[in-house]
Amino acid sequence: MYKLYGSLKIPGDKSISHRALIMSSMSIGRSEIINLLEADDIKSTIRILKQLGIIIEKKGNRWIVFGNGTNGFMQPKKILNAQNSGTTARTLIGAVSSNPIKCTFKGDKSLSKRSMSRVTNYLEQLGAKIKLTNKDFLPLAIEGNQNLIPQKIIIEKPSAQIKTSLIFAGLGLKGKLTIIEKVKTRDHTEKLLTYLNIKHKKINYSNGFNSIELNGPYEITSKNLQVAGDPSSAAFFVVGALITPKSNIVLENVLLNPTRIAYIKVLKKMGGNIKVKKTKKISGEDCGSIYVKHSKLKGIKINKSLSPLLIDEYPILSIAACCARGNTIMEGLDELRHKESDRIESIVYNLTKLGIKVKNIGDNIHIEGIKKFKERVCKIKSFHDHRIACSFMILKILNNKIRIDNEKCVSISYPNFKKDLKKLLYII
Ligand code: S3P
Repeated sequence: MYKLYGSLKIPGDKSISHRALIMSSMSIGRSEIINLLEADDIKSTIRILKQLGIIIEKKGNRWIVFGNGTNGFMQPKKILNAQNSGTTARTLIGAVSSNPIKCTFKGDKSLSKRSMSRVTNYLEQLGAKIKLTNKDFLPLAIEGNQNLIPQKIIIEKPSAQIKTSLIFAGLGLKGKLTIIEKVKTRDHTEKLLTYLNIKHKKINYSNGFNSIELNGPYEITSKNLQVAGDPSSAAFFVVGALITPKSNIVLENVLLNPTRIAYIKVLKKMGGNIKVKKTKKISGEDCGSIYVKHSKLKGIKINKSLSPLLIDEYPILSIAACCARGNTIMEGLDELRHKESDRIESIVYNLTKLGIKVKNIGDNIHIEGIKKFKERVCKIKSFHDHRIACSFMILKILNNKIRIDNEKCVSISYPNFKKDLKKLLYII
């Protein structure tokens, strides 16, 4: 038997790390980034930025970026490989679109199955020339241009990647670009616009729509940045402590942006003993500690309207649901089909193997919790998806006989996940 005990500093946020690197590359001059996440997805962004002529170096615990300005990307000599990283591919396509260069982007097997037209349709509307594989996928070729057309764009799908791609295009575009999202998604790019003194107008409408108006091209002056700990990484330990008897942990240095910690509200509603304490603001984002104690959880209904704010946390929430009394219904999960794996399938397949009563009805998942987790031999399939692997590594605390086919894939977002989990684990 184990318990989770003690404190842990959470590594840098993945979304902010991508944005910090790209926005520093689009600034003029030298920026230092502290606590950048050093994971495979971020390495893909660094590699591509270097191919686009940006000098990026590591000195001690700092990453130094020498930015070339908003339209300063250079003609790459080779294909740009985003590997497994959707954020790298989708946001960088936007960033290069206002540069007069030709780029070809590709990705690994998983990323090559994920839609790119959700971004490229808008970029084509702005005037970029784009050729996709089978009208939707990587590899794709993009020819940017310095005369993108000023206009107003309404984004139909809730997606921070689409929004960010368009904001990056707007930074180099001559004239006004208004970007409207119908549903609020993570807003780190907007927070960085403010932090980097990039003049823009933001309006939150009473119907829930948000608009961002840019008036480029911008000359962004470089500024040092710090990255807060990733709340999506913290979520694994939060659930680990809630479901493991006698646990009591503190997670430090966690980003507390409301668009990212909706899972805490959900887990509290399930009966979780969680306390959040803001300690500081870093690079325009709130940051602090999360205190978690073992709790008896109960099943709840998680409304569709929350799905854009919980999008990366459903795999670990499904683990919490297994350990809760009664039923949990997670609604409106269609976007989960388009992640690193089809996460509806990955969750349902593995929970069924573990003997949990789980059903996928339309875009919803129903999970019936069980009283006590019995140790039982079971082979879990990660589907090479980092969030699926991390989630079942947490369930493994209660069922040591679980075997996960590819634990190494956690390096996409959290290379030291197993080491950090061990730091908190005590035999009782
Ligand atoms: C991300 C946005 C989300 C999220 C992904 C990271 C980002 O994707 O799932 O892990 O950094 O903008 P969507 O914007 O497609 O929902």
